[in-house]
Amino acid sequence: MKTHRSLLKMKQEKEKIAMVTAYDYPSAKTSEQSDVDVILVGDSLGMVVLGYDSTIPVTVDDMIHHGKAVKRGAPNTYTVVDMPFMSFHISKEDTLLNAKKIFQETGCQALKLEGGHEVTDTIKDLTQAGIPVVAHIGLTPQQVNVMGGYRVQGKTNEDAKRLIEEAKAVEEAGAIALVLECVPEKLAGIITQELNIPTIGIGAGKICDGQVLVYHDLNQYGVDRIAKFVKPFGNLNQEASQALKHYVKEVKEQSFPEKGHTYTVDESILDGLYG
Ligand code: KIV
Ligand code: NA
Repeated sequence: MKTHRSLLKMKQEKEKIAMVTAYDYPSAKTSEQSDVDVILVGDSLGMVVLGYDSTIPVTVDDMIHHGKAVKRGAPNTYTVVDMPFMSFHISKEDTLLNAKKIFQETGCQALKLEGGHEVTDTIKDLTQAGIPVVAHIGLTPQQVNVMGGYRVQGKTNEDAKRLIEEAKAVEEAGAIALVLECVPEKLAGIITQELNIPTIGIGAGKICDGQVLVYHDLNQYGVDRIAKFVKPFGNLNQEASQALKHYVKEVKEQSFPEKGHTYTVDESILDGLYG
């Protein structure tokens, strides 16, 4: 299993970190078997597997439910779990209790939370309590209603400067890695160079120390809209719908099940059982 020390070493040695967002036992198992470095149990599960239209409805219990399934599927992969909407804003006490619950019950290796300057105290508190934190700046989907939509961040000089300052602030606060979502490649490159901790990009170009994509996006599984930054490496939608259509057809025409799928007994034990 990777540790945050080995992730740091990968940055220093310029070996890219491959991270995947996964939400359940089979996807976690496949990710571990495929040598993924880090699994993220992202709150994007709200949209991708629960069918909500944003990450806002996702709860601490949802994260725990999925986090536990992922850890059962990938016991030997460094796993990060997202703190969901408003689970780290109400009070320090509430934040620590939520973090404790997610960290203890899932058995994950770190928590991730969205935000810059406004979460540096929280990063310090969790780190002091023994919970490693991955930070996340740029496009932060939990703020979608304040940001006014999902769009690229850091496109003005002022915004770019703010993102660089936020990146330094979360590192200073003790974050072990930083996710950069939807920022221009050059800016992600400057941040990557300025920081000691690894940067993991999504829609942030190739200079980052690592990349993260959602399992369902890269496999084209259950998603119908694909963002500019996603590359479909597979097409499970097509595989699954072909298989299902084939199944329905064979049931209708009674070519499934065949003998090989069927249990038999010696006919004599059925004596007297026919109506
Ligand atoms: O929830 C998620 O999947 C994420 C990644 C896209 C970084 O936060
Ligand atoms: Na997330």
